[in-house]
Amino acid sequence: MDNALLEIGLPAVLIGFASLALMVHKELGPFAGLNGAGRWLLTGVFGMGFIAFGIKMAVAFAIERLPEQTIAPLLERSVVAWQRAESDGSFFNPAPVRQVHYVWQALPERAPEPAANPGNPAKVALGKRLFNETKLSGDGTLSCASCHDLYSHAGADALPTALGIDDQRGPRNTPTVWNAALMSRLFWDGRAASLEEQAAGPILNPLEMGMPTPAEAERRLRLEASYRQDFARAFGDDAPISFERIAQAIAAYERTLITPDTPYDRFVRGDTSALKPAQLRGMALFESLGCVLCHRGPSFSDAGLVGGESAFRIFPANETPYEKQYDLLLDGKPGVWRIASLRNVALTGPWLHNGSVDKLEEVVRIMASAQLGRSGKLHAWLNDDRQLGRADRSPISDDEVADLVAFLEALSSDSLLRGQRRQTPAAGTS
Ligand code: HEC
Ligand code: HEC
Repeated sequence: MDNALLEIGLPAVLIGFASLALMVHKELGPFAGLNGAGRWLLTGVFGMGFIAFGIKMAVAFAIERLPEQTIAPLLERSVVAWQRAESDGSFFNPAPVRQVHYVWQALPERAPEPAANPGNPAKVALGKRLFNETKLSGDGTLSCASCHDLYSHAGADALPTALGIDDQRGPRNTPTVWNAALMSRLFWDGRAASLEEQAAGPILNPLEMGMPTPAEAERRLRLEASYRQDFARAFGDDAPISFERIAQAIAAYERTLITPDTPYDRFVRGDTSALKPAQLRGMALFESLGCVLCHRGPSFSDAGLVGGESAFRIFPANETPYEKQYDLLLDGKPGVWRIASLRNVALTGPWLHNGSVDKLEEVVRIMASAQLGRSGKLHAWLNDDRQLGRADRSPISDDEVADLVAFLEALSSDSLLRGQRRQTPAAGTS
């Protein structure tokens, strides 16, 4: 709420109430023969409107002073975001800044395994076979690998949105399966909580692999002696092939699809020459601008399995001109999305849940505007008593965009850049 409104509104309510009290006490009270308590009661009854309005104003004012929804839980940690601004003097920060340093983390070599589905080499090998198995699609034309092309497209498909059976166009962009095993939530909207749960989705999805029923998938694989053998080896018993085990084997395979071989990880592990100057500048900006408020931890997402805290954010969180341009709203409103991992992000365009953006530079501008309010508009923090009200809201510069993109490129796996799989550690030796 505007401060001016408060300055006018509050005195108006007080004056109104005072004149009412005066009227009741001097005229109505004596006329009706009321004593002191009675007069105040009558004042209260007549003044209900003023009191209610006063309370409403107080509540509105309190809410208005709360920081923006998306940033509120992060406010404490957001100190990092203001350090750069403070140090280069771009805004005056009256409060002493508690020194909080963002801790950069390298990607683990292996994804943690759930107790219910421990990996073993036979299971991983079976999972790999199933990942490439077109019999798992209704008409036998598609496998997981059709959309998640591990080497040519870094685990995605290079399309804006996925192409399922019968050339049906799905509504969402295909995310990479590389490092998906390190996410606590899967899918753009985070609706699956594990790889096991996730794998069933595309097989049965009529727009993707279009398998009519789980039983049909089981029936097709049971027909083959080699699958009966592979399942027995992987699960160590002769139980019949089940849909659940199909998903388990695929998940065990996906847990081996990890890419810690990046310039960034080498840098964090101590090779100080691993990053180019532009990438280093980008890394500093990534922290100081506040990208780390959401893209944190080794997976560059708060939805990461390691160190993740709050997987979801409203996107776009701030009104931005980009929302129309790239059709970012769902039914006219911002959606709630999982914070995307930025691992190999430079290799997995087009970007965002609807695949509407085909330049990484543009995604970075959109993020700065939509998620950090760097849109040139001062709509978010009108209240000039608060530190955040003084933050720089101007759009980030072309140089900053270039440096950020250079840094994001440092998250690309060396071996994926060569279109290969990293050799060590060997897949499925866990
Ligand atoms: C027709 C293309 C297509 C096929 C075939 C396909 N996927 Fe996907 N995959 C997608 C799309 C699109 C999404 C995102 C869907 C969403 O978020 O709603 C996705 C999401 C995923 C994710 C989540 C990644 C993340 O970061 O959240 C994993 C893991 C995955 N698929 C694995 C598989 C497996 C395993 C198979 C085979 C059983 C498979 N996919 C088959 C298109 C496909
Ligand atoms: C308030 C949280 C938040 C902040 C701050 C934020 N992001 Fe994001 N970012 C997200 C969410 C949520 C998504 C997923 C959007 C979607 O579903 O389309 C995302 C997606 C992305 C993507 C696209 C990933 C893909 O695979 O398509 C990139 C690149 C990215 N962010 C970079 C950045 C950079 C660089 C910054 C800092 C300038 C930043 N983000 C700041 C929440 C945030």
